[in-house]
Amino acid sequence: MSAGEPLVLGIETSCDETGVALVRGRELLVDTVASSMDEHARYGGIIPEVASRAHLEAMIPTIERSLGTADVDLSEVDAIAVTAGPGLVGPLTIGASAAKALALALGKPLYGVNHVIGHAAVDELVHGAFPERVMALVVSGGHSSLLLVDDVATSVSELGSTLDDAAGEAFDKVGRLLGLPYPGGPHIDRLAREGDPTAIRFPRGLTARKDQEKHAYDFSFSGLKTAVARWVEARQDAGEEIPVHDVAASFAESVADVLTAKTIAACERHGVSTLVVGGGFSANSQLRDMAAKRCAEAGIELRIPPIRYCTDNGAMIAALGSAVVRAGVAPSSLDIGVDSSMPLTVTHV
Ligand code: KG4
Ligand code: ZN
Repeated sequence: MSAGEPLVLGIETSCDETGVALVRGRELLVDTVASSMDEHARYGGIIPEVASRAHLEAMIPTIERSLGTADVDLSEVDAIAVTAGPGLVGPLTIGASAAKALALALGKPLYGVNHVIGHAAVDELVHGAFPERVMALVVSGGHSSLLLVDDVATSVSELGSTLDDAAGEAFDKVGRLLGLPYPGGPHIDRLAREGDPTAIRFPRGLTARKDQEKHAYDFSFSGLKTAVARWVEARQDAGEEIPVHDVAASFAESVADVLTAKTIAACERHGVSTLVVGGGFSANSQLRDMAAKRCAEAGIELRIPPIRYCTDNGAMIAALGSAVVRAGVAPSSLDIGVDSSMPLTVTHV
């Protein structure tokens, strides 16, 4: 389909996944991931130092496994793409160092790209080229952002982001509150499916009239998390049993309601009829169900990649790298640094 297009090797190390993938054009040849999540679970959160060491140990084996699976020789690679940010500095540095070493040794161009925009770009490998303009909702344990994408390689604007907790982070914190194992997100999802989402009316962050001007497309989940904590504490103090299924369902309903309402309002305001949802939190069933229903009602095409491409992976970085190469953008300098808070309007460095 795209034999004439450059073969891009993508490397992702912004958090706890070491991802390596090969993409030619919009075709994914292989996607290989090693995760250090098991090492973090007992701490109840990602420990950057532990993640960095795990990346260092996994990097060469993961690259070799990726090339071996695709039966591709390193000399066939035309360009190296790597996550330049945002993310954890130590882990990002390991990936960037590996990418620079490869680029230098192979004499091939290096492209430092944006992790969050990669979460949107990966959908092109699954559902094909984006139409002229798409909205992207990127939701995970680390980010909750709404992006207006005119060209995934060169033109992205940030309409809004979370002011405090990311959606997945809020789920994990409420999970801890309910005594669930880390990460709590998938457990709450499971409990919520058996609860009544209308049982408790939890607040909808940043949806008041006064927030419409400045924060129309921003998110805030920390007030919701506190409201859940207060509600649970009050029942505990009264010696009552906690209806965990209803708490989970009502909490999940609030998060899904706010995410979808703001996203669809942004699509309508900007005349966008395609929505891409990415990031590990897009596994959430309450979000998926509500997004499907509301997008159908609004006449918006909803594109969500399979979950293995929503969680952090190398394919998203190779996909964005490939788009950047196609756009004819100049390669990155070999002395680029990593940026833990890389702006979401910067597609590549
Ligand atoms: O993208 P990801 O794998 O890692 C980053 O945060 O970058 O996302 C993981 C986050 C965690 O907070 C996890 O609890 C949440 O997404 N998550 C879910 C579900 N699956 C993963 N939250 C709610 N429902 C789920 N089904
Ligand atoms: Zn991510």
